This record gives sequence, C-alpha cells and structure tokens, in this order.
Amino acid sequence: MIDENKRPESMPRINTEALADQFIAEQVEKVKKQVGSRKVLLALSGGVDSSVVAALLIRAIGKQLVCVHVNHGLMRKGESEQVIKVFRDELNANLIYIDATDRFLDKLAGVADPEVKRKIIGGEFIRIFEEEARKLTDVDFLAQGTIYPDILESHGVKAHHNVGGLPEDLKFELVEPVKLLFKDEVRVVGSALGLPDGMVNRQPFPGPGLGVRCTGAITRDRLAALRESDAILREEFDRAGLTGKVWQFFTVVPDYRSTGVRNGKRLFDWPVIIRAVNTVDAMSVTVPELPWPLLKKITDRILAEVPGVCRVLYDLSPKAPATIEWE
Ligand code: XMP
Repeated sequence: MIDENKRPESMPRINTEALADQFIAEQVEKVKKQVGSRKVLLALSGGVDSSVVAALLIRAIGKQLVCVHVNHGLMRKGESEQVIKVFRDELNANLIYIDATDRFLDKLAGVADPEVKRKIIGGEFIRIFEEEARKLTDVDFLAQGTIYPDILESHGVKAHHNVGGLPEDLKFELVEPVKLLFKDEVRVVGSALGLPDGMVNRQPFPGPGLGVRCTGAITRDRLAALRESDAILREEFDRAGLTGKVWQFFTVVPDYRSTGVRNGKRLFDWPVIIRAVNTVDAMSVTVPELPWPLLKKITDRILAEVPGVCRVLYDLSPKAPATIEWE
C-alpha cells in the first residue's frame, strides 16, 4: 500500500519552473477529483505555505475555495492589506476577511506571561475560525499548508496553522496539496503560480506574530511602535539589498522604559531592539556584521519617526544561548 505521507524516492526535487508547472498540473487534477463540486475552507495567514495552497486551489476549483484571513492585530505593517490585494483583487478569490484586532488585544490586555500569551492567541484564532466554519453550511473539506518538514518533525501537526484544534463535529476531510514538498520547493511552486516575490520569499514569521516581539503585556502604543519600527527596518534592509541575504530580521519593543531627553525635557520612553540573524535551520544562528551607516540610518529614522521611542539597540547575541525571538 502507498503511504500518502511518504515522499516517493522517484519524486524529483522541484527546482525549475517546468517541474513546478508539472507539479501544479498534477495537483490541480488531483484536487478536482477529490473535491468535485463541493467547497473547501482554508485559513489563509498570508505566509508562504497557506498562500501557495490558496493559489493552487484557486487554479483548481476557483470560488469553491473559501479563504478566511483572520487579522489578529499582530500582523506586520501592510500584511493583511497585501493578502486582500493579491487574493481578492488579483486572483478573484472567495475571501472572508475578519479584523479581529480588538478581540485579540482585549483578551491579551494585562497578560505578561509569554506562554499564556501564545495560548490566548492560538486559542482565539481557532475559536474565530470555528465561528466562521459554522456559518458556512456546505463545506466538506479543510485545506492546510502542511509541508514535508511538518510531517517529518511533528507528525503533520502544523503549529502555526493551528486549526487542528477544531471540535469533533467540525472534522473535515483534509486537502493538503503541498504536503510532500520542502520549503524551497513550495517557493518555486508559488512563483510558478504567479504569487508576488515578497509573498513567496517572505522571511519566517511566528504564528503569534508581533505578539512575541512586544514583550510582556501588550499595549496598543507599544505595538504601534513595534509595527512602525519593523516597517522602517524592512524598508532600509530592502534599500541596502539585504532582503533575502539576511535570513530573518525584525524589531522588538520590550516592556520597560529608559530615560531620554527631547526638546530639553526629560522623558521615559521605550527602546527598540534590532534583531537580525543568519542560519540554515534556525537551530543555531549567527549575527551578521551590518554596515555601520545602515545601522545609523535605521536608528535615526526610528528615533525621528516612531513616537514613544528614545533608544535603538542592536542585539549581538548568537543562538545559543539566545533564541531568535525574545519570547
Ligand atoms: P527561536 O526563537 O526559537 O525561533 O530561536 C526559531 C524560529 O521559529 C520561529 N518561531 C515561531 N514560529 N510559532 C511559529 O510559528 C511560534 O510560536 C514561534 N516562535 C518562534 C522564529 O521566528 C524563528 O524563525
């Protein structure tokens, strides 16, 4: 018997557009056969895997795919907007957009424990997804962006697409068209499907989003400082040609203030910490030697453009002992 979760040895590494086109054609046929005229539900985070699955299924079954994008208020600047632009406007997808910012931030108010924060974010995500699934009466399938490392490392449980926690009466048949692919292959398939570069080559972003970078109890002002400083960092890395050369980079805003002075007045504002790392597998990382003028430019821009910030730092810590994220 064929094990559907085992990559056949004869399967080629998908590293060219021609191989990707062939893979897409095969999967389109397979999905059409599996789904027929019924509907498929997908939690579309905007990450590489769920975006590629969405684009593939749109090609196979068009509006029979119902995408749900939950904005938990912890997305990076412009990310939810990009999901709507690409999928609703350009690919004409059946997309339900839920701005659940207030719901998440209200639940997270005053919660400082990192593990409790993670649980609240994951749990609330499943509840919102479940509510939407219950509103749709004619859906039989759930599509997931499971990829091969998920199967190898965690028995197919996709931590950051965590809709595996749905209640018993909402158990759908699964559609997992990229489950035998490695990440680099998913990206090649995404490009062949016409997804924008910024989406296909997106750096890793944790499921709890900016929530793990706004340390301690999340407040809206600190979250705004985090989102703006992160956007500045990404813009300047892009301009310096570092996007794609540095593996992961972002800012962190911790929950303590330090003294500063502005217009002759003493104040207490937040620091912004820059984190940039290079790695192969995220298990051990090194910190790149960034050009001094770039660090200075980012610092100047953050201090001038982001309210409530009086200090910018560069985290030089390797993993181990420091992890990539701060929480
Ligand atoms: P750490 O911080 O453990 O991170 O060195 C290793 C990689 O995993 C990402 N990360 C997460 N991804 N949910 C995720 O989906 C999480 O809770 C989570 N925590 C860390 C991190 O961004 C890095 O790429």
